[in-house]
Amino acid sequence: MPTDKIQNLNFSSYQNNKFLWGVATSAFQLEGSPYADWSTWDSVLSLNPKITNHYELYQRDIRLIKELGVNAYRFSIEWSRVQPSERYWNKEALKHYHKIIDLLIENNIIPMLTIHHFTHPTWFITKYPWHKKEAVKRFTEYVDRLTDHIRGVDYWITFNEPYLLILGGYIEGCIPPGVKDLNLAIQALENLLLCHSITYRMLHIKNKNIKVGIAHNMAAFSPWIRFNPIDRLLCRIAKNFYNHSLIEGFLTGKIKISIPFRKAFELDVPIKNTLDFFGVNYYTRVHMRFNPFKRLFIEFRHKDIDGYGLTDMGWEIYPKGLKKVLKYASKLNVPIIITENGIATKDDNKKIKFIKTHIDVLESAIKEGINVRGYFYWSLIDNYEWLHGLDARFGLYRVDFKTYRRIPTKAASFYSYIIKSRKF
Ligand code: FCB
Repeated sequence: MPTDKIQNLNFSSYQNNKFLWGVATSAFQLEGSPYADWSTWDSVLSLNPKITNHYELYQRDIRLIKELGVNAYRFSIEWSRVQPSERYWNKEALKHYHKIIDLLIENNIIPMLTIHHFTHPTWFITKYPWHKKEAVKRFTEYVDRLTDHIRGVDYWITFNEPYLLILGGYIEGCIPPGVKDLNLAIQALENLLLCHSITYRMLHIKNKNIKVGIAHNMAAFSPWIRFNPIDRLLCRIAKNFYNHSLIEGFLTGKIKISIPFRKAFELDVPIKNTLDFFGVNYYTRVHMRFNPFKRLFIEFRHKDIDGYGLTDMGWEIYPKGLKKVLKYASKLNVPIIITENGIATKDDNKKIKFIKTHIDVLESAIKEGINVRGYFYWSLIDNYEWLHGLDARFGLYRVDFKTYRRIPTKAASFYSYIIKSRKF
């Protein structure tokens, strides 16, 4: 089916136009994997290799999802468990993930499956890192296997936060593969987006009725000093790059990246018409300032300006920013799903306030006509947070990482209540 026809399928009639109220997780963050690049990257994981032990306790966790009363669950399959070495496909692992899908469906919970959520099999990232052309072949081979086996999933996300992956993995070097090279970063981004587009088409060939999207991390940006022209300029550059350039890529097939004092890049990316919905991950606002002593002369920080406070990870709580990014994302003219929004805090009341204020903003955005069709709280249970270990408590359920006990926070019952009382 030509992609323009796929785009025109009536999304609203799909799932009876049910607004998706969900919770989100990723496999690695819940269960780790001995075969994943990240396992040796962070020493915290050697002490807690099973993290929440979700791999064994998935039934219990699906019961928690059910108890919340949500109708959707976003999760991922850990590639390194399915393909632990280049030539070995672990059918048992695939079966395991299928049990999760079947159980969700049995409980009337719509599965939303993320194919790639930051982690890779170690063999892949060492032999075929994203900047190499072969990465595309290896990744799409995996997708082919996956889609041959998986049935009953109507919502697919190709990549979680491709820009964060590139920024962290290829510019800052703080996540695997730990490269710091702008040119390789650009090549990696090109390959990744090519994979998105191939995956989009592969999924639709196998099942034309499914919905395929991507999850893009978007932030609000402000100048550090309101009237400082350089801070304002940096803020504009950051917004254009971090939030907008991918969206422009989906609209035009071109991504333009300008970096202060460096040559500008223009990439041809075959991603036009490859979205059935757009996933927005929104958490915070970032304040930008010029600092001659920093890399690329840019410094960014969080600060609590509006009195909503900072999270345990130091991120500014800024509900209004959600509307700003949704407005921009609506340019794409496809349904938007908030695929992640959440707070790391040990304070239940703060978590409740975060959820309420963000859902209030979501409601007002919908009233203004922005086509948002789902909201997924990050996260169901506390889990491993990439650069912060086990201390960033995002969960609606608290996890005791020694006993693997799940303990409901007050925010769990609040979330259940709020999703029942809002009708979108
Ligand atoms: C997002 C990631 C997700 C989680 C949250 C807190 O950027 O997609 O895995 O770590 O941040």
